Amino acid sequence: MAMEPLLKLSSLTVLLLSLIPLSSGAFAGGVRVELTHVHANAGDTEAKLIQRAIASSRHRLSTFVDRAPLHAGKTEYVVDIAIGTPALAFSALVDTGSDLIWTQCKPCSNCYWQSSPVFDPSKSSTFGKIACSSPLCKALDQHSCNASCHYSYMYSDHSYTEGVLATETFTIGSTSVPGLAFGCGNSNAGVAFSEADGFVGLGRGKLSLISQMGLTEFSYCLTPFGSPKKSSLLIGSLPNPNATAHPVISTPIVRNKSWPSFYYITLNGITVGGTVLDIPSSTFAINRDGSGGMIIDSGTSITYLEYSAYDKVADAFMAQIKNMNTTDQSLFDLDLCYELPPKSNPDTLNLPKLIFHFQGADLELPPGNYFGVDSDTNSICLMMAESHGLSVFGNFQQQNMQVMYDLGNDVLSFYSAECG
Ligand SMILES: *[C@@H]1O[C@H](CO)[C@@H](O)[C@H](O)[C@H]1NC(C)=O
Ligand SMILES: *[C@@H]1O[C@H](CO)[C@@H](O)[C@H](O)[C@H]1NC(C)=O
Ligand SMILES: *[C@@H]1O[C@H](CO)[C@@H](O)[C@H](O)[C@H]1NC(C)=O
Ligand SMILES: *[C@@H]1O[C@H](CO)[C@@H](O)[C@H](O)[C@H]1NC(C)=O
Repeated sequence: MAMEPLLKLSSLTVLLLSLIPLSSGAFAGGVRVELTHVHANAGDTEAKLIQRAIASSRHRLSTFVDRAPLHAGKTEYVVDIAIGTPALAFSALVDTGSDLIWTQCKPCSNCYWQSSPVFDPSKSSTFGKIACSSPLCKALDQHSCNASCHYSYMYSDHSYTEGVLATETFTIGSTSVPGLAFGCGNSNAGVAFSEADGFVGLGRGKLSLISQMGLTEFSYCLTPFGSPKKSSLLIGSLPNPNATAHPVISTPIVRNKSWPSFYYITLNGITVGGTVLDIPSSTFAINRDGSGGMIIDSGTSITYLEYSAYDKVADAFMAQIKNMNTTDQSLFDLDLCYELPPKSNPDTLNLPKLIFHFQGADLELPPGNYFGVDSDTNSICLMMAESHGLSVFGNFQQQNMQVMYDLGNDVLSFYSAECG
């Protein structure tokens, strides 16, 4: 990997100091930006999009099992932002399961094709490198030092980005944010990346957009897979819904130092149809070594449940759904699929209800949030799978819901909404 010329210390100091006023000023009142589903324009059938999304979250989960020092990654929603002075637009995947903000950078030792021009730091007047002594450099699991901070950031599907940790001015919505630390990626590769020119990490770690700006509030509302409507991401404030029309439920966000980027939530049990399943709540607890637990993630497609609980959920659906035939023809490659009767959809099929009993919040999902239609094979599948170690509340389950992160109070809230 080619190394970059040395940054003068004086300009570095200025850039780091400029981080300080951000929290108070830049996003006061919040900034709303639109998100596009990355696959929505790809010309594939909705079934193919879902199939691909499931396949990529499988990769993601398989690595958690090994507890390798990888970050969670890969998401399906992109935001259009801009970098540098003059500002160069690029699209970034939005991921609450990882922290780093990055984009491809010249000189490329290994860049994948992207639709917009690759960012060239030598053409920007606001670019600066970050010293190895910076806490932001030390916040990286994998960094090395050669005059300035070099990073290597691996996602759990083995996608990676490597380059120089630097600071730049970013334009988010219509707001200009100076001095954000980001990965200027000179070597980037991964299936996950082909749809966007970089990432915006919204995790809890030091390098995420949220942490760097000192913000304590953000929320998103994700439109259904395949919907042409744009989802929205609100950074720096929370919506204030009419509580009569939109009852809000809330659950504590739990931190664990073993995985500081993750938003853990406490799942005490699950109801399928009329049956509260016999699942010990310890099934989803964080273990003493930091394994286990359940996180909410915008970047994992379907919900993964610890296998002992997953089996009970699948068995309960199987026992209660009697008016359809199961099928193994679906391309989704999920365990529990049914032939879809003509002219029907999950909302008209009278499917058993599904309730997640989070601490303080019983979240009943609409059937369209847990049964997905594979229109290629005319089947529907339970959009969940088993995991061994970490459970993940995925984004298929978060469609058409306002999801609000209040980090000052460590509270996650939901209300159902028509997104887009
Ligand atoms: C460190 O950076 C210099 C200057 O860019 C480069 O010549 C040298 O090869 C780098 N050393 C290592 C160990 O990467
Ligand atoms: C809130 O929603 C309820 C029910 O839809 C409605 O009757 C009421 O007028 C709304 N209140 C405000 C302040 O908009
Ligand atoms: C993670 O959570 C477990 C279970 O609550 C706790 O025993 C452990 O100390 C935590 N680890 C860290 C590093 O926070
Ligand atoms: C289930 O399959 C059987 C045998 O192929 C068929 O006779 C029956 O009509 C199917 N039931 C439904 C609800 O599709």
